[in-house]
Amino acid sequence: MKVLFIGDIVGSLGRDMVFDYLPRMKRKYKPDVVIANGENAASGRGITKAIFDDLLRAGVDVVTMGNHTWDQKEIYDFIDDTDYLIRPANFSDDAPGRGMTSISRNGVTLSIINLHGRTFLPPHGDPFDKAEELIAEAKEVSPLIFVDFHAEATSEKIAMGWHLDGKASVVVGTHTHVQTADERILPGGTAYLSDAGMTGPYDEILGMKKEDVIYRFRTNMPVRFEVPKSGRSQLNGLFVELDDQTGKALQLERVSINDDRPFKG
Ligand SMILES: [Fe+2]
Ligand SMILES: [Fe+2]
Repeated sequence: MKVLFIGDIVGSLGRDMVFDYLPRMKRKYKPDVVIANGENAASGRGITKAIFDDLLRAGVDVVTMGNHTWDQKEIYDFIDDTDYLIRPANFSDDAPGRGMTSISRNGVTLSIINLHGRTFLPPHGDPFDKAEELIAEAKEVSPLIFVDFHAEATSEKIAMGWHLDGKASVVVGTHTHVQTADERILPGGTAYLSDAGMTGPYDEILGMKKEDVIYRFRTNMPVRFEVPKSGRSQLNGLFVELDDQTGKALQLERVSINDDRPFKG
């Protein structure tokens, strides 16, 4: 099974990059499943039903979330009505929605799990325990398991990669919006990348207008960050191919598209 993952989609520029490039990426990579992190898809803050529907229409199969899951209150109205939008599994048991889903293609099932880090982030439940619990459940159906670990600290992400080596097929980090270059297949067969990077504004700071962010760093004054609606943009992610029988990764390729690294079809 081939899986394409798109890192944190930020605002309308990020969505436009998905609409523009997903058809071309589908021709190049021929993914069976497309997963995208959509926690910043609505102007940098959460996701709406209309945006979620647009992403599915564009060819995304499953949307994962993160610390911005609840920023758009309307998510409460639709997260329980779809199998294709998941939020971190180690959120409170009181949280609506769920943290794991699965999708089948040609008789092969992939489980997708979303987890949230706890270092420099709110103290949710233990993501390491939750990962083991959900993987045990998923393995009863299929050995193909994709984990989006939404976390700040590289060390916590690498720890999760090693914790799940040989248990998950893929462990990819999201949240920092900066792609790392440490992609590898761990000895147990788990494809690993500390952070997939973001999809959206290219000439700004993590997708937010750079003047606002610089002002805040210089003055410590409160500023409401805005996501620009025009300018150059980027798309970052990861492509992996998995063995249908064992769930182990066969190959992985970091995806990075921007004006400095144009897409090669
Ligand atoms: Fe994000
Ligand atoms: Fe985040």
